[in-house]
Amino acid sequence: MSYGVTLPERDIFDAWRVAARVAISHRIPPDQIDWTGGGGLFVAAALPDDPGPHQARVPEGFVRLAGSVIWHSAPERLPLLYQALWRLDRRDGDPLSQADALGRRLHLLAKSVGRDIHKMHAFVRFRECPSNGPRRRFAAWFEPEHNTLEPGSRFFVKRFADMDWLIATPRQTAHFQDGALSFGPAGARPDLPEDASESLWATYFANIFNPARVKLAAMRSEMPKKYWKNLPETRLIPAMLKDAEARVQRMREAGATAARPGAAAISTRYSSTMPQDPNLPETLAAACSAAKGCRRCGLCEAATQTVWGEGAADAALMIVGEQPGDREDLAGRPFVGPAGQLLRQAMAETGVDPERVWLTNAVKHFKFIPRGKQRLHQSPDRQEIVHCRWWLGLEIGFIQPRLTVALGASAAFALTDNAAPLADRRGKVEIGLHDGPVLMSWHPSYILRLADRAQKDQAQQQLTEDLGFALRMVRNEE
Ligand code: URA
Repeated sequence: MSYGVTLPERDIFDAWRVAARVAISHRIPPDQIDWTGGGGLFVAAALPDDPGPHQARVPEGFVRLAGSVIWHSAPERLPLLYQALWRLDRRDGDPLSQADALGRRLHLLAKSVGRDIHKMHAFVRFRECPSNGPRRRFAAWFEPEHNTLEPGSRFFVKRFADMDWLIATPRQTAHFQDGALSFGPAGARPDLPEDASESLWATYFANIFNPARVKLAAMRSEMPKKYWKNLPETRLIPAMLKDAEARVQRMREAGATAARPGAAAISTRYSSTMPQDPNLPETLAAACSAAKGCRRCGLCEAATQTVWGEGAADAALMIVGEQPGDREDLAGRPFVGPAGQLLRQAMAETGVDPERVWLTNAVKHFKFIPRGKQRLHQSPDRQEIVHCRWWLGLEIGFIQPRLTVALGASAAFALTDNAAPLADRRGKVEIGLHDGPVLMSWHPSYILRLADRAQKDQAQQQLTEDLGFALRMVRNEE
């Protein structure tokens, strides 16, 4: 007698467990079950409806392994799993061990499934779709190698719980709506709208791309070519690879500038709570490029890119803000948004040449909370400021400004480790952690937020006065 079993596409693991439990309880040997449904030469019977007299007990390890192998696309996974169950029940060797041919096979299948799920988490790219309701809607197209949409989707449920989304694949579609996940049949590949976030991905990717570290084999193994066509950022790869050799040559020709004495010591003082970094950058340019990969706190996760300082590498005056805002995060440059405009206007009024100063921030990544389509600024907390001091210390160490201006409370704390209110300190010079003078002033965003016209005008006037004072100080006129 031979039996045919047909399993559904969805909830296949539970269905397989039920079928396998019935089969083993009737002691049906593996070679009598056709897991493809029994549509072959011989007419196959359905498995019995009732549980048989025998109760099999299986180790936890088997349930875990089967729970992974089941999502593989190879049809033989089902008979292989049943063979393992049969042998476990008969105590015939250890079919879960890597030393056993069947065990090895099953572990390889499970590994391939794990890799496929990992790739899905890394390479699904959502695009925003129009929404009539309060929740934002997103859709993505992905082509997994195995049937991994079901196990792979749980990650997105946790990560994007407050949005509605859909992941379409050639076999199935996952829908997450109003907090409930469901699976439907495959549809045609959706015609997804162009999305502004694609250019964010592209900017991010172009920024982290280091032409001197191009390792094609590693790149292909981490991000196999078959995924490239659905990733917005990979459209840049051919052009960037073409230019890589020339860029490396330009980097070589630019050479390294000599390290300023004291840079490391200052940075260490600024980062007293941080462990020493064995790869201490030796130049301002090296620090800038190392900061692009900074993972010292969690802010890098959501921000588009590190926003490093800019200006003259030998500036006598350094101006330190709090952190990049929305516009700076997208542009990769400090003070280019509304607060930057106000600051640059005050600088222009006092004759501070932006090309001759070093403009930077206490924290190099944008901290925000998403609200609809907006990203609302959040002040960095003390820990985040302390983590980022490592970079600020390096900037100060390499540039060695005669005077540093702290704009706002975050910069004041970053530079002096003193969190006292700014109202009592503005317009005064204090000694910073680097033993140099720090002039306290208002942050331009604070000025923008002041609702009272007279207060606003006064604060703006004070910022301008402070910058004028700073300029005279670095010119030795004060
Ligand atoms: N606010 C800051 O503190 N820095 C910027 O770069 C922009 C806004």
